[in-house]
Amino acid sequence: MRVFVTGASGWIGSATVDELLAAGHEVTGLARSDASAAAIQAKGAHVRRGDLDDLASIRAGAEAADAVIHLANKHDFSNMAASAAAERAAVQTIGDALAGTNRPFLLASGVAGLAQGRPSTEDDASPFHGPDSPRGGSENLAFEFIDRGVHTVSLRFAPTVHGTGDHGFIAVIAAVAREKGVSGYPGDGTNRWAAVHRSDAARLVALGLAKAPAGARLHAVAEEGIPTRDIAEAIGRAFGLPVTSIAPDDVPGHFGWIATFFAMDLTATSTRTRELLGWTPTGPTLIEDLDAGAYSAPTPMAG
Ligand SMILES: NC(=O)c1ccc[n+]([C@@H]2O[C@H](COP(=O)([O-])OP(=O)(O)OC[C@H]3O[C@@H](n4cnc5c(N)ncnc54)[C@H](OP(=O)(O)O)[C@@H]3O)[C@@H](O)[C@H]2O)c1
Repeated sequence: MRVFVTGASGWIGSATVDELLAAGHEVTGLARSDASAAAIQAKGAHVRRGDLDDLASIRAGAEAADAVIHLANKHDFSNMAASAAAERAAVQTIGDALAGTNRPFLLASGVAGLAQGRPSTEDDASPFHGPDSPRGGSENLAFEFIDRGVHTVSLRFAPTVHGTGDHGFIAVIAAVAREKGVSGYPGDGTNRWAAVHRSDAARLVALGLAKAPAGARLHAVAEEGIPTRDIAEAIGRAFGLPVTSIAPDDVPGHFGWIATFFAMDLTATSTRTRELLGWTPTGPTLIEDLDAGAYSAPTPMAG
C-alpha cells in the first residue's frame, strides 16, 4: 500500500515508518523541515513537504495514498488549545479527503479520561466531543467519517511510549528530577500509568493497518499501570537522586506543566487489542528501560 504518514519523523512515527517499509509498503512522510525530510528520506521513504497548518498539503498527501496514518501533533503544552485545533483541522481534512474510498485512516489518540476508577478498555468510547475537548475531540471526529466511507481506526497510545531517545513525558519527569535534585512522585504515588515500549507500539500500528476493522480502538498498552512512586524510584536510581513524595498542593509548582498528567491515574488494558491483532508486546518494561539508562540523556518536549 501507499501509506501517507504525518509525524513520520517523530518518536513513534519514525519507528512506524521502519515497520511499514519492512512490511513492503510504500511510505510518504509529511516533513516540515529539511532535517525531518532528510530523516524520512534516509529510511527509504518519500517526502511530502508541509506543516500541520498547511491543510492543502495534508489533503493532497491523503488523496494520493491508499492509507493514512496520522501521528503528527504540535505538542505545545503551553497552548493546548492551539494544538487541539490543529489536530482537529488535520483530522477533518484527512477524513474529507478519504471520504467514499473505504481507505484506512489510523490516528493517534490516548487513554486519558476514558474511564474513572478503573483501567480503560477498548470498549470505552471517548467522551471527548467537539473542538474544545482534549485533542480537539479528534477520535470521535474521525469515527464520524466511518459513515462517509472511511476505514477509521484509533491508536490509543499509553501515556508513555518509552525507550532510548524518548523525549516524551518520562523524559520531562526525569528532567524535572535532575533540575530539582530530587525525584518526586505526587502524593502517595499510588496513581498509575500504563506504558508501552516504542518497538511494540510501532509494530501495533503496522498490524492495525493490516488487520483492524473500521471503528477499532486499539490500545498500545503493554503494562496496565505502573505506580508513579515506582517510576520516581527508578528515576532516582538512574540519576542517583533522593526520592520523595510531593504534597498534592505542591505538585503543580514542583512538576510544572507535566503535573496535570503525572498526578492522573492513567491505566488501561489491551486484552481486546491483543486478541484482535495477535499482538504480544516483547520490549522492555518502563522500569527496565529506566534501570538500563534509556533516559540518561533526556531531551524534554517544549512546553
Ligand atoms: N509518545 C507518547 O508517549 C504518546 C502517548 C500518547 C499519545 N501520543 C500521540 O502519538 C502521536 C505521536 O507522538 P510522538 O511521541 O511520536 O510525538 P513526537 O515525537 O513529538 O513527534 C511529533 C511529530 O509531529 C510532527 N509535527 C509537530 N508539529 C508539526 C507541525 N506543526 N506540522 C507538521 N508536523 C508537525 C513532528 O515533526 P518534526 O520531526 O519536524 O518535529 C514529528 O514528526 C501524537 O499524536 C501524540 O500526541 C504519544
